[in-house]
Amino acid sequence: MSLTRRTFLMTVSALGVLGSVSSVAMAADLPPLAKKDTYKVGFAQTESNNPWRIAQTESMKAEAAKLGYQFVYTDAAGSAAKQVADVNSMIAQGVDLIFLAPREEKPLIPAVLAAKKAGIPVILLDRSVDPKLAVAGKDYVTFIGSDFVEEGKRVAEWLVKNANGKTKIIELEGTTGSSPANDRKKGFDEAIKAAGGFEIVASQSGDFARDKGRQVAEALLQAHPDANVIYAHNDEMALGAIAALEAAGKKPGTDVLVLSIDGGKEAVQAIVDGKIGAVVECNPRFGPIAYETLKRYAGGDKIEAWVKNKDKFYDTSNAAAEVSGAY
Ligand code: AHR
Repeated sequence: MSLTRRTFLMTVSALGVLGSVSSVAMAADLPPLAKKDTYKVGFAQTESNNPWRIAQTESMKAEAAKLGYQFVYTDAAGSAAKQVADVNSMIAQGVDLIFLAPREEKPLIPAVLAAKKAGIPVILLDRSVDPKLAVAGKDYVTFIGSDFVEEGKRVAEWLVKNANGKTKIIELEGTTGSSPANDRKKGFDEAIKAAGGFEIVASQSGDFARDKGRQVAEALLQAHPDANVIYAHNDEMALGAIAALEAAGKKPGTDVLVLSIDGGKEAVQAIVDGKIGAVVECNPRFGPIAYETLKRYAGGDKIEAWVKNKDKFYDTSNAAAEVSGAY
C-alpha cells in the first residue's frame, strides 16, 4: 500500500501523536538515498587556490576511489554563481548525492533547495549555509565540519596567555559572507573583548588568499604602525602577512605576533621557525567521515544536524613533532 505524505500526516494526527508530527514531517522532507554497493557522488568544491582546498579534494577523491564510487568533481574557482551552476549540472547528471562546500552562507541556498527539489540529498562539507534559510535534517542531510567559533576562541585564549604586552591587533578576515569568516571573527572578538586590555585596531577581509592577505596586511600595517599582533583567519593570509612584515623590515614572531587557523605544513613549520605563535587546526581530510555519513544515511540512521570535526592545536610545544603529519 502506498502512503502519500499528506495521508501519512493525517493518520499520525488521527492517532493523537501530534507532538511528534513536525519532527516526523521534517525527516520525511529529506530526499532518501537507496542502499547500494556503489554510488555516483558529486563534490562541488568552492575553489582550489590553497593547500587546504587541495588536501580536502584529494581526501574526497581518494576515499571515493577506495570505495569504487563514481566521483563527479567541480571547482567553482571562487565564484558562488559558478558553484550554483555546478550543482545544477550535477543534478542534470543524475548523481545520487551531492557533497557541497558552500563558498558563502546565502548565495548557495538556491543550490541546496534545487537539489532537494530534484530528490537528491545534499551533505554540506566544511562550510555551512544560513540556518534561517535552509535547515539540516529538512533541506540538507547534515553539516560536517569544524566549530569555527571555537577555533577563533582558542586562538584568542592562546593570545591572552602569551601576549607579553602585545595588545594591538590586526585581524585578517576570510571570505566575506562565508561561515568560517563570520564564526572565526565572532569566537575571537568575543573572547578578546571578555579578556579586556586588547584592541582590534583594524579588521578587513583578505579573502582567505595569500596574495590578498599580504596586500591587506601591508596597507593595514602602514595605517597602524603600532600594531603588534596579526590574527589571520587562515594560514594562507598569515603567510601573506609574514611576507608583508618582512618587506616592511619587521620581524614576525618578535616584533609582531602572528596567529592563524588551518594547520598546513608551511604554517606549522613557521611555528618551528619562530614566525607564527600558534595555529588552530581546521582538519581538511573529510573523505572518511563524508562517505561514512553517506552510508549511515543510506542505511536509515538518523543523522545529527552537525557532524563535528575535531581540531588539533599547534604551538612551540608540539610543532616540531607534528610538522611531518600536517597536510
Ligand atoms: O572553510 C574552511 C576554510 O576555507 C579554511 O580555513 C580555508 O583555508 C579555506 O579556504
